[in-house]
Amino acid sequence: MWRPTPLVRAKRLERVLNTPAKIYYKNETGSPSGSHKANAAVAQAYFSSKQGIQRLVTNTTAGQWGTALAFACSIFGIKCTVYMSRTSYDSKPYRKDLAEAWGAEVLASPSKRTAVGREILAKDPDSGGTMGIAKAEALEDVLGDESARDAVGSVMNFVLATQTVIGQEAQVQFEGYDDYPDLVVGCVGGGSNFSGIFWPYYYSMVNKKSPKNVEFLAAESSAVPKLTMGEYIYDHADSMKLSPLFKMYTAGSGFVPPPIHTGGLRVHGTAPTLSLLVDEGIVKAVAYDQLEAFEAATTFARCEGVLPAPESAHAIKAVIDEARKCKAEGKEKVILFNLCGHGLLDIEGYREFFDGKMSANNADPRALKSALDDVKGSYQWLNKGD
Ligand SMILES: Cc1ncc(COP(=O)(O)O)c(C=O)c1O
Repeated sequence: MWRPTPLVRAKRLERVLNTPAKIYYKNETGSPSGSHKANAAVAQAYFSSKQGIQRLVTNTTAGQWGTALAFACSIFGIKCTVYMSRTSYDSKPYRKDLAEAWGAEVLASPSKRTAVGREILAKDPDSGGTMGIAKAEALEDVLGDESARDAVGSVMNFVLATQTVIGQEAQVQFEGYDDYPDLVVGCVGGGSNFSGIFWPYYYSMVNKKSPKNVEFLAAESSAVPKLTMGEYIYDHADSMKLSPLFKMYTAGSGFVPPPIHTGGLRVHGTAPTLSLLVDEGIVKAVAYDQLEAFEAATTFARCEGVLPAPESAHAIKAVIDEARKCKAEGKEKVILFNLCGHGLLDIEGYREFFDGKMSANNADPRALKSALDDVKGSYQWLNKGD
């Protein structure tokens, strides 16, 4: 039976930070695949099985979405093919093993299976892949098989909607604490876990049912700073420009981020709904590098006993900064964040951090500008004046 994930007050973290802020988190780490991604995967595998679809194909960066979909497909008896970015395939082999344990076929992307992959490998045999390349491979695969469909791990409204189970549960669980958040924080790759936790609170505000004016804060990776350094323009979800165009904050679909241990945030574009709210100033955004994130994750693990996924660590860093601000200003704020995944399969990243071998790996501003110029040049009539 599916039970609500816990809402936890991080009292030891509050004590260590010596902050008047009250810090709460939704703990999504207990799902079979270890993250929030199962919420969307189970729904898509269920509806696909009802439609008679025989195979779901997808792209994954860190492997969290790929493993979640493999798990969900195994429940509903559907075949599963996962194109996993080569950098993560090599650095996180256990996620591939987990997906295979649930019966999925996992290919390192770019792969030789598709024309897209072969073309990229011909130009760069060592390509580490990107989310956009893996997406293009998944789309090409599906276009050649009538019994298969593309499964989507983030960005689209129907994915974000299934994730709102997180925020809806939090709203009910908060009644037991007699508290209500002033600030909701989440990390952002494509935008699904953050939207999942903040949408219900935003919805309550729009419907004038919220007892507070809640603030929303998105934490992204400085290796792919689409919200803080990207542009709000029309772009594709994949590097081969096969997907429809979405108006979103993007770093450019051709942007190749530096390698980081936070594969789930290594995504060039973010959900159109989230992008709109950022553009309107309703959601604020901050970017952190992986060193800052792993440091925050270590503090959290030592206080709360849970080893966070590197993605979630970006949200934790934002929470720690906000809690310190509360201390400096003497303000008691209730902060809620989403602990969207555990880091037990990200141990290689932690090892590199503890050994002092990790570097920040921020985005190169010139590469960012060139990827954005490319998108704007391709769709001048859409992107002019934006
Ligand atoms: C644990 C975890 N958190 C966050 C993300 C980022 O995705 P989203 O912004 O859609 O939640 C991912 C993506 O793979 C992930 O695996």
